[in-house]
Amino acid sequence: MKLGILTSFNKDWKLYAEACEKLGVEHEIVDFVGRDWLRNCLESGCDGFMVRPPNDFPERKAMVDERLTFLAKNVGRPVYPGVDELLFYENKRALVNWLDYYEIPHPKTVVLASYAEAMEFVASASYPFVSKRAIGSAASGVIVVKSPRQARRLVRQFFGWPIPGITRGKTYWSWYKKKWLLPDVGDEQKHYMIVQDFCDVRWEHRIIRIGDTFLGYRKVVGKHGFASGSGLAAWGEPPRRALDMVREITDRFGFRSMAIDIFETADGEYLVNEMQALFGSVERSLLNIDGKDGRYVWKDGDYRFEEGYWNVKRCYELRVQDFVRVLEGKADGR
Ligand SMILES: Nc1ncnc2c1ncn2[C@@H]1O[C@H](COP(=O)(O)OP(=O)(O)O)[C@@H](O)[C@H]1O
Ligand SMILES: [Mg+2]
Repeated sequence: MKLGILTSFNKDWKLYAEACEKLGVEHEIVDFVGRDWLRNCLESGCDGFMVRPPNDFPERKAMVDERLTFLAKNVGRPVYPGVDELLFYENKRALVNWLDYYEIPHPKTVVLASYAEAMEFVASASYPFVSKRAIGSAASGVIVVKSPRQARRLVRQFFGWPIPGITRGKTYWSWYKKKWLLPDVGDEQKHYMIVQDFCDVRWEHRIIRIGDTFLGYRKVVGKHGFASGSGLAAWGEPPRRALDMVREITDRFGFRSMAIDIFETADGEYLVNEMQALFGSVERSLLNIDGKDGRYVWKDGDYRFEEGYWNVKRCYELRVQDFVRVLEGKADGR
């Protein structure tokens, strides 16, 4: 059994390698960025490949998606996480298809692909609504649109004006090394618009499932008015309803590594906001009940609490353990 660790534009693949070393799992680092990526994969003789795709520029993400899909579907090699969920990883535009088609409760979301349709939408929309960039984190691409005037300006930025289609797109700003607020040049939003109903969010629950491990906490709204990126968390028992939603979704589609962010609204609805196969995480507990770190394991119809610290190597250790079980054919029924 040998795992291939695919390199990417960020350095997170090293966490897979460190986890393998710690667990004593045979592995090889495979150059997935270079032009010989496919030959590298084939010649490595690995049984399966683990990846953390880039989350900076849409073109890089698309290139890695294309390569991974080819490797999994055409060449038939196991990839972890799976390519279905990697296609909507860091892609809110693609996620909408899943949430809509499979009727997963979520804030009503529409993807607009033309200037005319977008202008028509904003003329009859109820305000405020939310506009989102497909890729992004820490609320850097989320705009609460409060007026038709602001909305029309955005539409012109996204789709071009006065000559339709010719646009530099809208540039967002985000924090670099938590020190400097810089424009995300090269990551402009153009030629599409994602609009979503504004929700009265009471809590944002993040529930994680990797293999048979469940973790969860709440994101707390920060000074900038958003939960994502606030760096604030609250621990305690996650609601059973949120855990069940995540268990059902991951079971239904066979997702092995998934973090699902669920809005609990003021009127008691539970709505899926994001589903990410991989997620940013600092070294801290992701489940803590009454001062005790731990995880849940689903067994005999209940979530059993096991004390311990499970966010080892930012959850990459759990992923390596799970992929090994999958490749050994021991993951059935989890
Ligand atoms: N439809 C919405 N209604 C109200 N607030 C929202 C909505 N969508 C997002 N937010 C707020 O914006 C934050 C970031 O949005 P999210 O879609 O999670 O993007 P990111 O990828 O930046 O985490 C959320 O944590 C939440 O606080
Ligand atoms: Mg989020």
